[in-house]
Amino acid sequence: MQKLLVTGSSGLIGSEVCIYFANQGWLIHGVDNNQRAVFFGNQGDTRWNQQRLQSKIKGFVHHELDIRDRQGVLDLIESIQPDAIVHTAAQPSHDRAAAIPFDDFDTNTVGTLNLLEASRQFCPESPFVHMSTNKVYGDRPNTIKLKELDTRWDYDDPAYEQGISETFSIDQSKHSLFGASKVAADVMVQEYGRYFNMPTCCLRGGCLTGPNHSGVELHGFLSYLVKCNLEAKEYKIFGYKGKQVRDNIHSLDVARFIESFVESPKIAEVYNLGGGKQNSCSIIEAFNLAEKYSGKAMLYTYVSENRIGDHICYYSDLTKMRSHYPDWDITISLDETIEQIVESWQKRLNARG
Ligand SMILES: NC(=O)c1ccc[n+]([C@@H]2O[C@H](COP(=O)([O-])OP(=O)(O)OC[C@H]3O[C@@H](n4cnc5c(N)ncnc54)[C@H](O)[C@@H]3O)[C@@H](O)[C@H]2O)c1
Repeated sequence: MQKLLVTGSSGLIGSEVCIYFANQGWLIHGVDNNQRAVFFGNQGDTRWNQQRLQSKIKGFVHHELDIRDRQGVLDLIESIQPDAIVHTAAQPSHDRAAAIPFDDFDTNTVGTLNLLEASRQFCPESPFVHMSTNKVYGDRPNTIKLKELDTRWDYDDPAYEQGISETFSIDQSKHSLFGASKVAADVMVQEYGRYFNMPTCCLRGGCLTGPNHSGVELHGFLSYLVKCNLEAKEYKIFGYKGKQVRDNIHSLDVARFIESFVESPKIAEVYNLGGGKQNSCSIIEAFNLAEKYSGKAMLYTYVSENRIGDHICYYSDLTKMRSHYPDWDITISLDETIEQIVESWQKRLNARG
Protein backbone atom coordinates (compact mmCIF):
# COMPACT_ATOMS: atom_id res chain seq x y z
CA MET A 1 0.00 0.00 0.00
CA GLN A 2 1.40 3.41 -0.95
CA LYS A 3 1.72 5.92 1.87
CA LEU A 4 0.74 9.58 1.56
CA LEU A 5 1.74 12.22 4.10
CA VAL A 6 -0.56 15.26 4.12
CA THR A 7 0.24 18.30 6.25
CA GLY A 8 -2.68 20.55 7.16
CA SER A 9 -4.90 17.48 6.84
CA SER A 10 -7.82 19.04 8.75
CA GLY A 11 -7.91 22.07 6.44
CA LEU A 12 -9.83 22.56 3.22
CA ILE A 13 -7.26 21.24 0.75
CA GLY A 14 -5.58 18.77 3.09
CA SER A 15 -8.83 17.00 3.95
CA GLU A 16 -9.92 16.79 0.31
CA VAL A 17 -6.55 15.29 -0.64
CA CYS A 18 -6.75 12.75 2.22
CA ILE A 19 -10.18 11.51 1.12
CA TYR A 20 -9.34 11.56 -2.57
CA PHE A 21 -6.16 9.49 -2.21
CA ALA A 22 -7.72 7.14 0.37
CA ASN A 23 -10.37 6.35 -2.25
CA GLN A 24 -7.54 5.42 -4.64
CA GLY A 25 -6.23 2.90 -2.08
CA TRP A 26 -3.46 4.93 -0.41
CA LEU A 27 -2.70 4.75 3.32
CA ILE A 28 -3.07 8.27 4.69
CA HIS A 29 -1.01 9.98 7.39
CA GLY A 30 -2.34 13.42 8.32
CA VAL A 31 -0.44 16.12 10.22
CA ASP A 32 -2.45 18.91 11.85
CA ASN A 33 -2.44 20.59 15.26
CA ASN A 34 -5.57 22.72 14.70
CA GLN A 35 -3.37 25.79 14.41
CA ARG A 36 -6.13 27.44 12.35
CA ALA A 37 -8.07 27.90 15.61
CA VAL A 38 -5.03 29.67 17.08
CA PHE A 39 -4.68 31.91 14.02
CA PHE A 40 -8.39 32.79 13.69
CA GLY A 41 -10.09 31.84 16.98
CA ASN A 42 -12.95 29.37 17.43
CA GLN A 43 -14.49 30.17 14.05
CA GLY A 44 -11.39 28.69 12.42
CA ASP A 45 -11.50 25.45 14.41
CA THR A 46 -10.89 22.42 12.17
CA ARG A 47 -11.41 19.58 14.67
CA TRP A 48 -14.79 18.78 13.06
CA ASN A 49 -12.95 18.05 9.83
CA GLN A 50 -10.33 15.90 11.58
CA GLN A 51 -13.17 13.84 13.09
CA ARG A 52 -14.77 13.57 9.64
CA LEU A 53 -11.51 12.08 8.28
CA GLN A 54 -11.14 9.71 11.20
CA SER A 55 -14.67 8.39 10.68
CA LYS A 56 -14.55 8.29 6.85
CA ILE A 57 -11.06 6.95 6.11
CA LYS A 58 -10.18 3.43 7.16
CA GLY A 59 -6.71 3.28 8.71
CA PHE A 60 -6.29 7.09 8.74
CA VAL A 61 -3.41 8.03 11.04
CA HIS A 62 -3.61 11.48 12.61
CA HIS A 63 -0.38 13.08 13.88
CA GLU A 64 -0.84 15.98 16.28
CA LEU A 65 2.38 17.68 15.20
CA ASP A 66 3.40 21.29 14.62
CA ILE A 67 5.42 21.54 11.41
CA ARG A 68 7.64 24.10 13.16
CA ASP A 69 8.91 21.25 15.36
CA ARG A 70 12.00 20.38 13.30
CA GLN A 71 13.02 17.23 15.14
CA GLY A 72 9.40 16.05 15.23
CA VAL A 73 9.14 16.45 11.44
CA LEU A 74 12.45 14.64 10.84
CA ASP A 75 11.40 11.75 13.10
CA LEU A 76 7.97 11.47 11.50
CA ILE A 77 9.22 11.38 7.91
CA GLU A 78 11.98 8.94 8.84
CA SER A 79 9.45 6.60 10.44
CA ILE A 80 6.82 6.80 7.67
CA GLN A 81 9.05 7.13 4.57
CA PRO A 82 6.04 8.32 2.55
CA ASP A 83 5.68 7.67 -1.19
CA ALA A 84 4.41 11.21 -1.68
CA ILE A 85 4.03 14.37 0.42
CA VAL A 86 1.34 17.00 -0.01
CA HIS A 87 2.11 20.08 2.06
CA THR A 88 -0.93 22.26 2.73
CA ALA A 89 -0.34 23.40 6.35
CA ALA A 90 0.08 27.17 6.54
CA GLN A 91 -0.81 30.48 8.05
CA PRO A 92 -2.99 31.29 5.03
CA SER A 93 -4.15 34.91 5.51
CA HIS A 94 -2.31 37.95 4.18
CA ASP A 95 -4.18 40.31 6.51
CA ARG A 96 -3.48 38.20 9.60
CA ALA A 97 0.26 37.92 8.92
CA ALA A 98 1.08 41.53 9.87
CA ALA A 99 -0.10 40.89 13.45
CA ILE A 100 1.82 37.60 13.82
CA PRO A 101 4.93 37.92 11.63
CA PHE A 102 7.03 35.32 13.49
CA ASP A 103 4.26 32.72 13.59
CA ASP A 104 3.59 33.39 9.91
CA PHE A 105 7.22 33.05 8.78
CA ASP A 106 8.04 30.14 11.09
CA THR A 107 5.02 28.20 9.82
CA ASN A 108 5.06 29.09 6.14
CA THR A 109 8.77 29.25 5.45
CA VAL A 110 10.64 27.40 8.19
CA GLY A 111 7.94 24.71 8.43
CA THR A 112 8.27 24.13 4.69
CA LEU A 113 12.06 23.93 4.96
CA ASN A 114 11.72 21.38 7.80
CA LEU A 115 9.59 19.19 5.53
CA LEU A 116 11.82 19.60 2.48
CA GLU A 117 15.00 18.71 4.36
CA ALA A 118 13.37 15.70 6.05
CA SER A 119 12.15 14.57 2.61
CA ARG A 120 15.63 14.97 1.12
CA GLN A 121 17.11 12.87 3.94
CA PHE A 122 14.54 10.07 4.01
CA CYS A 123 12.46 9.97 0.78
CA PRO A 124 14.13 12.14 -1.90
CA GLU A 125 12.39 10.34 -4.75
CA SER A 126 8.88 10.90 -3.43
CA PRO A 127 6.92 13.68 -5.15
CA PHE A 128 6.63 16.77 -2.92
CA VAL A 129 3.63 19.00 -3.69
CA HIS A 130 3.59 22.41 -2.03
CA MET A 131 0.54 24.68 -1.86
CA SER A 132 1.84 28.09 -2.77
CA THR A 133 -0.32 31.12 -3.58
CA ASN A 134 -0.95 33.76 -6.21
CA LYS A 135 0.14 36.29 -3.55
CA VAL A 136 3.71 35.44 -4.59
CA TYR A 137 3.00 37.86 -7.48
CA GLY A 138 2.37 40.59 -4.89
CA ASP A 139 0.23 43.47 -6.11
CA ARG A 140 1.93 43.48 -9.52
CA PRO A 141 -1.25 42.12 -11.20
CA ASN A 142 -2.78 45.53 -10.36
CA THR A 143 -0.41 47.15 -12.87
CA ILE A 144 -2.14 45.38 -15.79
CA LYS A 145 -4.45 47.72 -17.71
CA LEU A 146 -8.04 47.09 -16.59
CA LYS A 147 -11.51 47.91 -17.84
CA GLU A 148 -14.54 48.43 -15.60
CA LEU A 149 -17.62 46.43 -16.56
CA ASP A 150 -21.08 46.54 -14.94
CA THR A 151 -20.34 44.01 -12.21
CA ARG A 152 -16.60 43.37 -12.44
CA TRP A 153 -13.15 44.51 -13.44
CA ASP A 154 -11.44 42.72 -16.30
CA TYR A 155 -8.06 42.83 -18.05
CA ASP A 156 -7.89 45.32 -20.89
CA ASP A 157 -4.76 43.85 -22.42
CA PRO A 158 -4.84 40.97 -24.94
CA ALA A 159 -1.68 39.49 -23.36
CA TYR A 160 -3.83 38.53 -20.35
CA GLU A 161 -6.89 37.31 -22.26
CA GLN A 162 -6.50 33.87 -20.61
CA GLY A 163 -5.27 35.23 -17.28
CA ILE A 164 -1.93 35.34 -15.49
CA SER A 165 0.67 32.72 -16.34
CA GLU A 166 3.64 31.35 -14.40
CA THR A 167 6.10 33.68 -16.19
CA PHE A 168 4.64 36.73 -14.39
CA SER A 169 7.27 38.43 -12.20
CA ILE A 170 7.23 37.75 -8.46
CA ASP A 171 9.77 40.52 -7.85
CA GLN A 172 9.56 44.14 -6.67
CA SER A 173 5.93 44.50 -5.65
CA LYS A 174 4.01 44.65 -2.38
CA HIS A 175 3.27 41.10 -1.17
CA SER A 176 2.09 41.45 2.45
CA LEU A 177 4.19 39.56 5.00
CA PHE A 178 2.19 36.44 4.14
CA GLY A 179 3.03 36.79 0.43
CA ALA A 180 6.70 37.25 1.32
CA SER A 181 6.84 34.17 3.58
CA LYS A 182 5.14 32.17 0.82
CA VAL A 183 7.60 33.50 -1.80
CA ALA A 184 10.47 32.28 0.38
CA ALA A 185 8.85 28.84 0.70
CA ASP A 186 8.01 28.70 -3.01
CA VAL A 187 11.59 29.47 -4.04
CA MET A 188 12.93 26.95 -1.48
CA VAL A 189 10.64 24.21 -2.86
CA GLN A 190 11.88 25.00 -6.38
CA GLU A 191 15.47 24.99 -5.12
CA TYR A 192 15.18 21.52 -3.54
CA GLY A 193 13.89 20.42 -6.94
CA ARG A 194 16.63 22.00 -9.05
CA TYR A 195 19.56 21.64 -6.65
CA PHE A 196 18.85 18.11 -5.38
CA ASN A 197 16.91 16.87 -8.43
CA MET A 198 13.81 16.18 -6.35
CA PRO A 199 10.30 15.92 -7.86
CA THR A 200 8.85 19.07 -6.30
CA CYS A 201 6.11 21.38 -7.44
CA CYS A 202 4.55 24.64 -6.27
CA LEU A 203 0.86 25.20 -6.88
CA ARG A 204 0.21 28.95 -6.84
CA GLY A 205 -3.42 28.95 -5.80
CA GLY A 206 -6.07 31.47 -6.70
CA CYS A 207 -9.16 31.07 -4.49
CA LEU A 208 -9.29 27.45 -3.41
CA THR A 209 -12.72 26.62 -2.14
CA GLY A 210 -15.28 23.96 -1.41
CA PRO A 211 -17.83 22.75 1.11
CA ASN A 212 -15.28 21.78 3.76
CA HIS A 213 -13.69 25.15 4.37
CA SER A 214 -13.87 26.74 7.85
CA GLY A 215 -14.23 30.17 6.25
CA VAL A 216 -13.47 33.27 8.35
CA GLU A 217 -13.43 36.95 7.41
CA LEU A 218 -9.68 36.94 6.88
CA HIS A 219 -9.50 33.74 4.86
CA GLY A 220 -11.82 31.63 2.71
CA PHE A 221 -13.62 34.09 0.42
CA LEU A 222 -16.65 32.13 -0.82
CA SER A 223 -17.04 30.01 2.31
CA TYR A 224 -17.17 33.10 4.54
CA LEU A 225 -19.41 35.00 2.11
CA VAL A 226 -21.97 32.17 2.05
CA LYS A 227 -21.82 31.81 5.84
CA CYS A 228 -22.63 35.53 6.23
CA ASN A 229 -25.52 35.13 3.80
CA LEU A 230 -27.03 32.20 5.72
CA GLU A 231 -26.55 33.84 9.13
CA ALA A 232 -27.92 37.20 7.86
CA LYS A 233 -24.65 38.79 8.93
CA GLU A 234 -23.26 41.89 7.22
CA TYR A 235 -20.44 41.15 4.78
CA LYS A 236 -17.86 43.93 4.47
CA ILE A 237 -16.66 44.84 0.99
CA PHE A 238 -13.26 46.51 1.08
CA GLY A 239 -12.85 48.91 -1.86
CA TYR A 240 -12.86 48.52 -5.65
CA LYS A 241 -16.70 48.82 -5.67
CA GLY A 242 -17.04 45.11 -4.89
CA LYS A 243 -16.07 44.44 -8.49
CA GLN A 244 -12.73 42.81 -7.62
CA VAL A 245 -12.38 39.46 -9.38
CA ARG A 246 -11.18 36.10 -8.04
CA ASP A 247 -10.92 32.74 -9.78
CA ASN A 248 -12.33 29.90 -7.75
CA ILE A 249 -11.38 26.26 -7.91
CA HIS A 250 -13.15 23.45 -6.08
CA SER A 251 -10.85 21.50 -3.75
CA LEU A 252 -11.71 18.27 -5.61
CA ASP A 253 -10.21 19.67 -8.81
CA VAL A 254 -7.13 20.63 -6.77
CA ALA A 255 -6.85 17.05 -5.46
CA ARG A 256 -7.25 15.70 -9.00
CA PHE A 257 -4.38 17.86 -10.22
CA ILE A 258 -2.18 16.75 -7.33
CA GLU A 259 -2.86 13.14 -8.29
CA SER A 260 -1.79 13.89 -11.89
CA PHE A 261 1.48 15.34 -10.63
CA VAL A 262 2.14 12.49 -8.18
CA GLU A 263 1.53 9.90 -10.91
CA SER A 264 3.82 11.65 -13.37
CA PRO A 265 6.05 14.05 -11.45
CA LYS A 266 8.46 16.63 -12.85
CA ILE A 267 11.37 18.46 -11.25
CA ALA A 268 10.92 21.93 -9.69
CA GLU A 269 7.68 22.77 -11.47
CA VAL A 270 5.41 25.73 -10.82
CA TYR A 271 1.74 25.98 -11.80
CA ASN A 272 -0.89 28.69 -11.40
CA LEU A 273 -3.79 26.71 -10.01
CA GLY A 274 -7.15 28.42 -10.02
CA GLY A 275 -10.57 28.19 -11.54
CA GLY A 276 -9.43 30.21 -14.55
CA LYS A 277 -11.54 32.73 -16.38
CA GLN A 278 -14.54 30.37 -16.57
CA ASN A 279 -14.80 30.08 -12.76
CA SER A 280 -14.04 33.69 -11.94
CA CYS A 281 -16.43 36.11 -10.28
CA SER A 282 -16.47 39.47 -8.56
CA ILE A 283 -17.77 39.91 -5.00
CA ILE A 284 -21.02 41.36 -6.34
CA GLU A 285 -21.44 38.41 -8.70
CA ALA A 286 -20.73 36.01 -5.82
CA PHE A 287 -23.50 37.71 -3.80
CA ASN A 288 -25.95 36.97 -6.62
CA LEU A 289 -24.94 33.32 -6.71
CA ALA A 290 -25.17 32.93 -2.92
CA GLU A 291 -28.65 34.46 -2.99
CA LYS A 292 -29.67 32.19 -5.85
CA TYR A 293 -28.82 29.03 -3.90
CA SER A 294 -29.78 30.09 -0.37
CA GLY A 295 -32.90 32.09 -1.25
CA LYS A 296 -31.73 34.73 1.27
CA ALA A 297 -30.78 38.33 0.63
CA MET A 298 -27.12 39.26 1.10
CA LEU A 299 -26.52 41.99 3.68
CA TYR A 300 -23.39 44.07 3.22
CA THR A 301 -21.62 47.32 3.95
CA TYR A 302 -19.07 49.06 1.80
CA VAL A 303 -15.74 50.25 3.19
CA SER A 304 -14.02 52.48 0.63
CA GLU A 305 -10.48 51.57 1.72
CA ASN A 306 -9.24 48.42 -0.02
CA ARG A 307 -7.25 45.69 1.68
CA ILE A 308 -3.49 46.26 1.42
CA GLY A 309 -2.09 44.51 -1.65
CA ASP A 310 -5.50 43.13 -2.66
CA HIS A 311 -5.77 42.06 -6.29
CA ILE A 312 -8.28 44.10 -8.31
CA CYS A 313 -8.55 41.38 -10.90
CA TYR A 314 -6.88 38.00 -10.79
CA TYR A 315 -7.54 34.86 -12.72
CA SER A 316 -5.08 32.09 -13.51
CA ASP A 317 -4.02 31.10 -16.99
CA LEU A 318 -4.45 27.31 -16.91
CA THR A 319 -2.66 26.67 -20.22
CA LYS A 320 0.48 25.16 -18.66
CA MET A 321 -1.46 22.79 -16.36
CA ARG A 322 -3.59 21.60 -19.26
CA SER A 323 -0.63 21.11 -21.57
CA HIS A 324 1.51 19.19 -19.02
CA TYR A 325 -1.44 17.08 -17.84
CA PRO A 326 -3.96 16.87 -20.70
CA ASP A 327 -6.24 14.47 -18.78
CA TRP A 328 -6.81 17.13 -16.12
CA ASP A 329 -9.27 19.98 -16.41
CA ILE A 330 -11.76 21.87 -14.25
CA THR A 331 -14.77 19.60 -13.66
CA ILE A 332 -16.81 21.60 -11.14
CA SER A 333 -18.42 24.88 -12.17
CA LEU A 334 -18.61 27.95 -9.96
CA ASP A 335 -22.39 27.55 -9.69
CA GLU A 336 -22.10 23.96 -8.49
CA THR A 337 -19.36 24.91 -6.03
CA ILE A 338 -21.47 27.64 -4.43
CA GLU A 339 -24.47 25.33 -4.26
CA GLN A 340 -22.33 22.78 -2.37
CA ILE A 341 -20.97 25.43 0.00
CA VAL A 342 -24.51 26.59 0.80
CA GLU A 343 -25.61 23.02 1.56
CA SER A 344 -22.57 22.30 3.72
CA TRP A 345 -22.95 25.46 5.83
CA GLN A 346 -26.68 24.80 6.24
CA LYS A 347 -25.84 21.38 7.72
CA ARG A 348 -23.03 22.66 9.93
CA LEU A 349 -25.01 25.63 11.24
CA ASN A 350 -28.05 23.45 11.95
CA ALA A 351 -25.85 20.98 13.84
CA ARG A 352 -24.50 23.83 15.99
CA GLY A 353 -28.10 24.86 16.69
N1 LIG B 1 -7.91 28.60 0.40
C1 LIG B 1 -7.40 29.46 -0.44
O1 LIG B 1 -8.13 30.27 -1.01
C2 LIG B 1 -5.94 29.43 -0.79
C3 LIG B 1 -5.49 30.24 -1.83
C4 LIG B 1 -4.14 30.20 -2.19
C5 LIG B 1 -3.27 29.38 -1.52
N2 LIG B 1 -3.71 28.61 -0.49
C6 LIG B 1 -2.75 27.77 0.22
O2 LIG B 1 -3.21 26.42 0.23
C7 LIG B 1 -2.85 25.80 1.45
C8 LIG B 1 -4.08 25.21 2.11
O3 LIG B 1 -5.05 26.21 2.31
P1 LIG B 1 -6.41 25.87 3.04
O4 LIG B 1 -7.40 26.85 2.54
O5 LIG B 1 -6.69 24.41 2.96
O6 LIG B 1 -6.00 26.29 4.53
P2 LIG B 1 -6.66 25.80 5.91
O7 LIG B 1 -6.36 26.85 6.91
O8 LIG B 1 -8.09 25.38 5.70
O9 LIG B 1 -5.81 24.48 6.24
C9 LIG B 1 -4.52 24.53 6.74
C10 LIG B 1 -4.41 23.55 7.90
O10 LIG B 1 -3.07 23.57 8.36
C11 LIG B 1 -3.07 23.49 9.77
N3 LIG B 1 -1.84 24.12 10.26
C12 LIG B 1 -1.51 25.43 10.21
N4 LIG B 1 -0.32 25.64 10.78
C13 LIG B 1 0.13 24.44 11.20
C14 LIG B 1 1.32 24.02 11.86
N5 LIG B 1 2.25 24.90 12.23
N6 LIG B 1 1.48 22.69 12.10
C15 LIG B 1 0.51 21.80 11.73
N7 LIG B 1 -0.64 22.15 11.12
C16 LIG B 1 -0.82 23.46 10.86
C17 LIG B 1 -4.33 24.25 10.21
O11 LIG B 1 -4.79 23.85 11.49
C18 LIG B 1 -5.31 23.91 9.09
O12 LIG B 1 -6.13 22.80 9.43
C19 LIG B 1 -2.12 26.87 2.27
O13 LIG B 1 -0.73 26.75 2.04
C20 LIG B 1 -2.61 28.17 1.68
O14 LIG B 1 -1.67 29.23 1.84
C21 LIG B 1 -5.04 28.62 -0.11
